Amino acid sequence: MAKKMWGGRFKKAIDKGFFEFQKSIQYDYRLAEYDIYHSIIHVIALKEAKIISSAEATKLVSALNAIFKEINEGKLKPDLSAEDIHTFIQNRVEKKVGSIASKLHTLRSRNDQVAFDEKWYCYKEGVSILALLNILSLSLNSLSKKYKDCFLPGYTHTQRAQVVSFVDYIGAFFYMFERDFDRLDNFVKSLSIYVGSGALAGSAIPKKAYDEALRKFLEKTRAEFKYTKSEIVKNPLDNVSSRDFVVEFLSILSILQMHLSRIAEDFILYSTTEFNFFDLPEEFCTGSSLMPHKKNPDFLELVRGYTGRIYGNLTSLLTTMKGLPLTYNRDMQLDKEPLFSSVEIITQELKIMAQFIKEIKLNHDSIGHALEDESLYATELVEFLVYKGVPFSEAHAIIGKLVRHAQDKKKKIKSLSDAQLKHFHKELNHRMINKIMNPKYAVISKKSPASLKQSSSVKSLKKKTR
Ligand code: ARG
Repeated sequence: MAKKMWGGRFKKAIDKGFFEFQKSIQYDYRLAEYDIYHSIIHVIALKEAKIISSAEATKLVSALNAIFKEINEGKLKPDLSAEDIHTFIQNRVEKKVGSIASKLHTLRSRNDQVAFDEKWYCYKEGVSILALLNILSLSLNSLSKKYKDCFLPGYTHTQRAQVVSFVDYIGAFFYMFERDFDRLDNFVKSLSIYVGSGALAGSAIPKKAYDEALRKFLEKTRAEFKYTKSEIVKNPLDNVSSRDFVVEFLSILSILQMHLSRIAEDFILYSTTEFNFFDLPEEFCTGSSLMPHKKNPDFLELVRGYTGRIYGNLTSLLTTMKGLPLTYNRDMQLDKEPLFSSVEIITQELKIMAQFIKEIKLNHDSIGHALEDESLYATELVEFLVYKGVPFSEAHAIIGKLVRHAQDKKKKIKSLSDAQLKHFHKELNHRMINKIMNPKYAVISKKSPASLKQSSSVKSLKKKTR
């Protein structure tokens, strides 16, 4: 049984059921690395403040470094009888250096540690997710390049609307992910880590000692903390009691998840027999135990389904934090499972999605067939008449009638004779109709600044990665 970090004023031992209920080691072991950083900074500060000797500091730091190594090499499993990660590391240091370990926690509080640990976790995971977003953008880029000359029917209200280029279609998702990238990038750059809050009121260790400790420690980790401010705590009450940085991270991940869910939904829809535009990579689909013909898009469905979990994680923390009195309250321990859950789900989704997208194949026959739907070009016919000087609403009505006429007579507009077309408007003729009712023409005729048709593929986010 691991030793507790408190207990002097208690006569009774903690109830077993309650101990299990309140402990967090089973999930906060993920913070081990950062908790060791906090301890090393703290030991240096204690030495600078002459609270412990240099020899004691050296012993403590080398024990902490050794534990760090054990964890990194996967040799150290968390002791589930410890209350939390802070207690576990304290116990482990004691195992290594004996009674000097009792000086490690001098004038320190777990409230300070946990805020520090979580910030560093958010920073590190945020940077990893940025790299994954970059890989995803490379996949989108490769798919759009492969099919750079292709077109798709574009939809509004899930009804056929106008023809779009495949590059623009993929580009729409690219820009969603680019904004996610920028949001996350700003977030990781805004994170500041603080030390010295004590439990809530600060500590008796002088600022000079913390300054020196942070400087010395961060010298070694400068590469990692390139973008992150490290400061002495501005307000200890705020530092131990605020989790808005976790809420912000979960919000950014929720928006990213919304985009993943939307791309998943589009691919599900476009791979149905009814659309049959995309052929999905078999290695990311599953079969049915009953129906032998099935190839189900389970990866995409799970991505769409996990949206509930990711939004729930955000809602869970917002609700936990609402109405908490200052400062630290144990409720806040419950911020970790939502945080870890969202980070881990999004990480897996991004990794698989990047591989998935690269392997999507376009079904030219079905797409070609869909592009023969003449109603997709009705707007281009209106545009043509407008350029011939016909007022827009008049042109709109004329082409509306033409489309309706063809439908009623079960005829193709393209098959109507010049005389029949002239009946709708004098500027309409067979040659012009054939020129306009063509995917390439439809896309090229768009000249507004929002049009991306000039590019033959979507960009990549590479330039932005650290
Ligand atoms: N495990 C706690 C948490 O994650 C940190 C410990 C603070 N506990 C305390 N009793 N002050 O929030």
